[in-house]
Amino acid sequence: SIDFSTLTKQTGYTALDYGFVNTSATRSAITYIDGDAGILRYRGYPIEQVAANSTFLEVAWLLIYGELPTPDELQGFDERIRRHTLLHEDMRRFFDALPHDAHPMSVLSSAVSALSTYYQNSLSVRDPEQVELSMIRLLAKLPVIAAYAHKKSLGQAFLYPDNSLSFVDNFLRLNFGTLAEPYEVNPVLSKALDRLLILHEDHEQNASTSTVRMVGSTEANVFASISAGINALYGPLHGGANEAVLGMLARIRDSGDSVAQYVERVKNKEDGIRLMGFGHRVYKNYDPRAKLVKESANEVLADLGVKDPLLDIAMELEQIALDDDYFKERKLYPNVDFYTGVIYKAMGFPPRMFTVLFAIGRLPGWLAHWRELNQDPATKIGRPQQLYTGAAERDWPQR
Ligand code: ACO
Repeated sequence: SIDFSTLTKQTGYTALDYGFVNTSATRSAITYIDGDAGILRYRGYPIEQVAANSTFLEVAWLLIYGELPTPDELQGFDERIRRHTLLHEDMRRFFDALPHDAHPMSVLSSAVSALSTYYQNSLSVRDPEQVELSMIRLLAKLPVIAAYAHKKSLGQAFLYPDNSLSFVDNFLRLNFGTLAEPYEVNPVLSKALDRLLILHEDHEQNASTSTVRMVGSTEANVFASISAGINALYGPLHGGANEAVLGMLARIRDSGDSVAQYVERVKNKEDGIRLMGFGHRVYKNYDPRAKLVKESANEVLADLGVKDPLLDIAMELEQIALDDDYFKERKLYPNVDFYTGVIYKAMGFPPRMFTVLFAIGRLPGWLAHWRELNQDPATKIGRPQQLYTGAAERDWPQR
């Protein structure tokens, strides 16, 4: 690979690279992807082994600190996170100012940005203890904010976190529990959600992580950087695809067209439609996460006894696309978002919450990158070049 910063200094040469298809903006030791072979590893561990053997918080530690935690470290991390789940009471009222039909991703990014106003003494990026504390606060409070965004949309009362529960069980209760009766966590759902969150924890320099790094490179605090990442994730070409997939499946069901007819419309690029949940900038093979998500979809729906025609449509769509030259030539396969929505729907989450679930999953990855960036002596403020295409110098008209 070429070190362009040195080359530019020596030659004045710059590369035009729309979408950073061929430009590394950093070195990173967190996640390895081989997109042609369909390989994903967190800190060297294959994603299949990680998903089979770990918990969300254990993987969060691994990503952030580089090695697996000892049992004591993991317990301490878990306890610390449980102690920080409460939101300031004023912060609970923050939600009152927003419309009930606000998209929960907008609520999430605004609330995370607002969190920094409560912790003004711990925003220094140069104080490792305060940085750790901010990361713990974010890990603890993001699920609570997410659940409140959900409750707000339903017009239901917010519950206080129950810190005797695990990270995922607490989150499920905050979303689906009510003040009226105790909430029983379904262990199959809890396990499946934990696994889905693990699969989303990091994916190297995707758009939202790159955004976190770009904002972090200005030495902006961790709340500001993560809020920016959430906004980048919101777009339908990135994390918003999981919500868009469900919309697409429902449209196919309601249109009366066959799945094959819909695929033809995509191939003809009618109205610029794409198969949502298909294709990836890096994977030119089956996304290894999508395989694991598909297994979970079958397990969860079987456990709940749900027969969702949208899952049948998704499977038919996948098969038609995999057999079709258009998709084969362009190496378009299902990505992580293709089957997640069907599972989240079966769990009871409304489609607008799907990308929020992605954000909760991705938070440890964003934090790991933010920390890596701030510890790397080679870090420079992110500042791309441009090739100017506007007018040459001209004189202001004399009127
Ligand atoms: N459906 C139909 N055609 C597609 C799709 C798709 N989902 N994705 C790419 N293509 C086609 C393009 O039209 C293009 O065809 P052409 O050469 O005839 O013009 C070709 O494949 C290459 O597409 P690009 O846009 O250059 O691919 P890029 O790597 O820039 O885009 C992306 C990757 C954004 C993920 C794209 O595949 C897409 O839009 N997918 C649908 C949205 C989606 O699922 N996003 C989630 C991504 S994963 C994540 O963020 C978690």
